[in-house]
Amino acid sequence: MNMLLIGAQGSGKGTQAAALTQALDILPISSGDMFRKAFEEKTDLGLKAKAFMDRGELVPDDITVRMVLQQIKELDYAQGFLLDGFPRTLAQAQALERGLQGMGRKLDLVIYLNVSREELLSRLAGRFLCHAHQHDYNIFSHPPKVAGICDIDGSKLYQRSDDRGAAIQRRLDIFFNNTIHLLDFYKKQQKLIEVNGDGTIDQVHEALLNQVYDAMQQQKVS
Ligand code: AP5
Ligand code: MG
Repeated sequence: MNMLLIGAQGSGKGTQAAALTQALDILPISSGDMFRKAFEEKTDLGLKAKAFMDRGELVPDDITVRMVLQQIKELDYAQGFLLDGFPRTLAQAQALERGLQGMGRKLDLVIYLNVSREELLSRLAGRFLCHAHQHDYNIFSHPPKVAGICDIDGSKLYQRSDDRGAAIQRRLDIFFNNTIHLLDFYKKQQKLIEVNGDGTIDQVHEALLNQVYDAMQQQKVS
């Protein structure tokens, strides 16, 4: 099963991808996490991507497509995956389709995690991560026991550079003006399901899992 999770910035893609991939025994592939790892490792790709990410802009398609397709190519053929955050443009979606075809693969299901803009702003502005292992906290929905400190490993918490100031609005504008058009692209292919992402993390997980199982059983996605 190869799946794609589409959602605005802060909709909970990363949070839900972790639980969903575990439940379905497939691999999460997050383009944002790949860029952040490349930056930590000081690779050319990471350094190039960082400037775009800090401004809340998309990294150019050619760099992004090459990176993600390479990652999929390295998987065992039998290994299913869940894409989080890729594709975000029509050009990326078309390149993904061609790339998967070339590997004898295809996307089986596309999930849109639908969250209101007001909730997105609060989730992004409230997110903090720990330095040691990127454990996720949110000062509004699940704050750490001691402010600024990770409950699990005691390291300090930090805010992502693109979760501050104008970058937040810019990222949401990119989604609602551009990426949203991908929904039509996948609807036409009858691969799209929509999940309400406004509830608590557990509520969304349950709804997501139920709808995915339903779609898998019925082979009826629209
Ligand atoms: P990326 O890292 O993918 O960031 P994003 O799309 O902006 O999405 P986020 O990771 O911010 O949100 P999320 O949906 O994963 O939510 P999360 O689960 O963390 O990309 C970063 C950058 O890389 C891009 O801006 C771009 O520059 C570049 N990039 C990446 N992919 C690209 C591509 N394809 N093309 C070009 N450039 C690309 O949740 C957010 C917060 O809310 C957390 O604190 C979480 O705990 C909390 N939360 C989650 N669910 C709930 C809930 N149900 N209730 C309450 N709180 C919740
Ligand atoms: Mg994420």
